Formats: sequence, C-alpha cells, structure tokens
Amino acid sequence: MRKKIVAGNWKMNLNFEEAKALAGELKVKLDHQRGVVPAHKAVSSPEVVLFPPYVYLTRILDLFINDEGVSVGAQNCHHEDHGAHTGEVSAPMISSVGATHVIIGHSERRSQFGEDDELLAQKVKQALKSALVPVFCCGEMLPERENGKHFQVVTDQLLRGLFWMDEVQLAKVVIAYEPVWAIGTGVTASPGQAQEMHAHIRKLIGDTYSKGAAERMSVLYGGSCNAKNAAELFANPDVDGGLIGGASLKAADFFQIIKSLDGSQ
Ligand code: 13P
Repeated sequence: MRKKIVAGNWKMNLNFEEAKALAGELKVKLDHQRGVVPAHKAVSSPEVVLFPPYVYLTRILDLFINDEGVSVGAQNCHHEDHGAHTGEVSAPMISSVGATHVIIGHSERRSQFGEDDELLAQKVKQALKSALVPVFCCGEMLPERENGKHFQVVTDQLLRGLFWMDEVQLAKVVIAYEPVWAIGTGVTASPGQAQEMHAHIRKLIGDTYSKGAAERMSVLYGGSCNAKNAAELFANPDVDGGLIGGASLKAADFFQIIKSLDGSQ
C-alpha cells in the first residue's frame, strides 16, 4: 500500500518562538493521539512531514528525534552540491543535519525565482544523490485551466522535472499536485477536480513506467486545504494526503487535517 502523508509547508512564516510553540503543540497532540488510539486500531497512520524555514531545521528536528511518525524537511535546495553560492543551501547540507525530505518546484519558487523544469530536474537529482525524498510540486495556473490546458501543463512539468529517472529512483519521490489558483486563495479544488488530476498523474506514471510504479506513488493535494475540507479531499482514491500551507501554521487545524487522513476521526 502506498504511503499516506500530511505535510506542513510553513513557507516564510513564524519567528523561532512561534515555530517552537507550533511544533511543540503538535507533538503533544500527536503523542496523546497515539496513546488514545492503540497502534493496532489506527487504520493507517499517515506520515507527518514538517517543512520549516532552513534556520529552524535542526531545532525542529531535535524536537522529533526518535519519533518515527514525524519527519522534517527543507522547502528548497540548490541545484549544485557545494560552491560559491552565497546564501544558498545544498541537498547534502540538508541531509547532513538529519532532515529527510525537500520540496522541489513549488509554484512560488517557479514564479518568484524563475525556476524552470530543467533546473528543477537538477535539484531533484541533488536530492536523490543525498538520499532526500523530493516532494515534487506541479500544478497549473488559472488561465491554463480555463483554457483546458491543465492536464498538458502538469504532464509537461512531470515529463521534464521527473520522468528522466528510472523506476527505482521514481519510487523515492512524492508528487504534490498544487493548482496555483488554489494556493493561499481560499479557493480549493473540488474533490472531483483533485481526483481527476491525481488519476491523470497516476495514469501518466503507469504509461511511462509501470502499473506498479503508479500504484506505489504518493500523490498529495495542496491548495487551500484546511480542517474543514480535508476529509472530503482525502476520501478520493487517488489523493494520498496533503501539502498544507496556511492551515499548517495552527496546530489544532493541522492536527485535524492529519486526523482526517488516519481514519480515527
Ligand atoms: P495553502 O494551503 O496556504 O493554500 O498553501 C498550499 C501550499 O502552497 C503548500 O505548499
């Protein structure tokens, strides 16, 4: 069975005190939940992944040391492994502090920093070389959807960004479908819209690689997913969890989203 994942992308938010408080509150809730719902009763506990800003990585990692249910990752990495790139952070650096995941190709990186699919493919290579799980983001902009181009846009992003790799490498990747028009807007994709794109992505993997590769791939939904709409989105057969922005900044909301996926609510 493929992995169910709820990930929190904190983006450039929270000072350190706030970040610590958020992670601490979440830890208390998760620990309590695990005590209340015995392991054999939890239908399928989702993996929780937190993506704090770089500067908080080690401190948030310390909080979840020896916690098998919670992983910590970075929001980005450079496309080279070292060098004279002032202000940048490489995949081997992220991995060396104990982080396990890295977001690559978030639409904010694509639009604000001009990251294109070729550069993103280099970043994915770096992540895999450092044994980090790349959480590769794809998704169309509103005019692309309105013009009926959304399937093609996502297909191209995956072809260029990911599908150069072999099936063994692909098994280490997580895909996040984040329609740009839904990110931070309060406009969520309907469960039907999410399901049809996730099914499209899975079929694409099936056609390009194999049925097994498609079945194993975790495809997360992101874009105004919150405590109220998460259960409905996660009920789709091809939605394996979420990449949550705004709602991951409130422990109660994020915890509710996690519970929406683990079958215990
Ligand atoms: P919001 O949940 O704030 O819409 O952000 C989604 C996102 O971009 C996660 O990476």
